Amino acid sequence: MHLIAPSLLAADFRRLDQAISLVNKSEADWFHLDVMDGMFVPNISFGQFIIQQVAKDAKKYLDVHLMIEQPERYIESFAEAGADGITVHAEATKHLHRVIQQIKAAGCKAGVALNPHTPVSVLENVIEDIDLVLIMTVNPGFGGQKFIYQSLQKIRQAYDMIVVRNSPAIIEVDGGIGLQNARKVLEAGARVLVAGSAVFKAEDPAGVIRDLKGLESN
Ligand code: DX5
Ligand code: ZN
Repeated sequence: MHLIAPSLLAADFRRLDQAISLVNKSEADWFHLDVMDGMFVPNISFGQFIIQQVAKDAKKYLDVHLMIEQPERYIESFAEAGADGITVHAEATKHLHRVIQQIKAAGCKAGVALNPHTPVSVLENVIEDIDLVLIMTVNPGFGGQKFIYQSLQKIRQAYDMIVVRNSPAIIEVDGGIGLQNARKVLEAGARVLVAGSAVFKAEDPAGVIRDLKGLESN
């Protein structure tokens, strides 16, 4: 069964409590939290402090997506803030293998994210060590962008690598995901669907979550 991870980035931050309670009560599985540093991506969002506040009320898995340079500087502090899983970008660190071990040592599930231009082959030597592969289906930095169709091919490649190498990793997709393309990414091998605008900009967010969750998957 696939998992739904609404991204709080698209929520109304004046009433973050309402967004959290909506996700808590919905059929969503995870909270997706987008951390941006204005260096790795051309936007700044929020950090440990906000995640700590979210963690107080969130009753579901906290999936923290670090879009920051040298994430190794902050792994422990995000774990302490309440992250259940931490995903770092392969492009953001010189020592991907080491950061993965660091995330696990901090007691979190370890994920690696790939920008649209980054080939799946960079995972060759870490695929057995990770819990999650995050295929970016837009260029990271902003919510509400258009899904890049070439990513379907990458999802299939990551899926094949996981099967061949007998890795425990699952595939998450992030960016421009909604009811219009969710079935396609699931068919390609994705297990976790991140959805920001598709959920929070909808009139009935819980309904969209229910519909995404209700799609057939392997
Ligand atoms: C983009 C973020 C996404 C974003 C998704 O850099 O990583 O998680 O919130 O938003 P939508 O679903 O609107 O593309
Ligand atoms: Zn994200």
